[in-house]
Amino acid sequence: MDKFVIRGGNPLVGTIRVSGAKNSALPCMAAAILTEDEVTLENIPQVRDIETERKLLASMGAEVELGYGRAQHRTRISCKLLSDPVAKYEIVKTMRASSLVLGPLIARTGMARVAMPGGCAIGGRPIDLHIKGLEKMGATISQEHGYLEARADRLKGASIVFDKITVTGTEDLLMAATLADGETVMENCAREPEVTDLAELLTAMGAKIEGAGTSTIRVQGVTSLHGARHRINPDRIEAGTFLIAGAITGGDLIVANCNPTHLGAVMTKLEEAGAKVEIFSQDSVRVRRDGPLRAVDISTEEYPGFPTDMQAQYMALATQSEGICQVKENIFENRFMHVQELVRMGANIRVDGRVAYVRGASPLSAAAVMCSDLRASASLVLAALVADGESILDRVYHMDRGYERIEEKLRGVGAQIRRMGSIFSPKQTEVTL
Ligand code: UD1
Repeated sequence: MDKFVIRGGNPLVGTIRVSGAKNSALPCMAAAILTEDEVTLENIPQVRDIETERKLLASMGAEVELGYGRAQHRTRISCKLLSDPVAKYEIVKTMRASSLVLGPLIARTGMARVAMPGGCAIGGRPIDLHIKGLEKMGATISQEHGYLEARADRLKGASIVFDKITVTGTEDLLMAATLADGETVMENCAREPEVTDLAELLTAMGAKIEGAGTSTIRVQGVTSLHGARHRINPDRIEAGTFLIAGAITGGDLIVANCNPTHLGAVMTKLEEAGAKVEIFSQDSVRVRRDGPLRAVDISTEEYPGFPTDMQAQYMALATQSEGICQVKENIFENRFMHVQELVRMGANIRVDGRVAYVRGASPLSAAAVMCSDLRASASLVLAALVADGESILDRVYHMDRGYERIEEKLRGVGAQIRRMGSIFSPKQTEVTL
């Protein structure tokens, strides 16, 4: 199992490039199910979740070509033949986003058999809202032996109000609605840029969608969709992680190939905390810090609020800020698994329910620590970058789910980080829990 060895103390200086957004790429790949034609996606990140999704689609009979060499960030998907519309547990178990194939499969083939998803262990993470919405559109759904079985001759347009804002739930039902008979109106939708990205692809495929990026989305169902080519948005969470890396190490970093308009909440908090953050160009942000960091509270919210996917990384920064700050997690219960590892490195953090109180600044000392989920791993990398001595991070496969070759990117701007063990390769077939 791969490990990262990180020696802290170097300020990060230079330019670091952001990859395409995993959380956009996953629904966009699932959208290819909706058509017999080829869908080409550019700016696909080379991360393990994408490889899992490729395997998932291939196991259903799709042809999925992941590019190599110069075309390594392009993928071509042809779902002409979907001989086996089943998302098997062996593939689905590591990735909650597999529930994204549910809507497109029923819409295209009239049936789906999807194993209940796994993914990051950050709370219960039900998919009841996906199920409820599809049932409203006329699907019959049953659950047995850990699988959901869904059937519908043709989905019908419906009026759906989400009880709770759900990102993949919005995406799943949006895809289903594109091929439904009649109009679907969805209210209380997620407004995340990943939803908008997916809607752009679907529109290029011939779907009739209005309001993506707002809380009400209207879809006029069509009888078929065609192939398209689409470029995936930059990953705002990877970009935010690098902004914190620049700030926490007291560096001067240009985070390139990002979309600054997606980073508002994170940039604002970094500025309040004492970093200098400026939009450097249309697609880059510069972060610098030469003074001390101040404690600033955060509270995670749906977009455009502070992202839950940045909470763990922000907490690493908070350990280096003067004063006490509150980090409130509103989206997922049980998303504080990084806390105990940060404490082992010398952080002063107390958790009370959904709030973590972080008292800083604490000098961190290098330690052997364990990555527990994707964003928790990022938090530990950030802490190790400022810890005194050499830290060893175990289970970095969590990191590989969502960050493309992060060690190479960080090394390029001055971090002392290396990987021990086999280098993750997108051809790797083993799926790890
Ligand atoms: C997506 C992101 C994930 C991010 C999260 C919140 C992907 C692949 N993953 O996850 O990185 O952390 O959004 O921004 O895009 N819920 C229900 N019932 C449902 C669905 C969700 O109760 O049917 C609850 C969840 O338990 C959670 C909240 O709604 O408390 C938000 O979850 P959701 O937005 O669905 O997260 P994901 O789409 O899984």
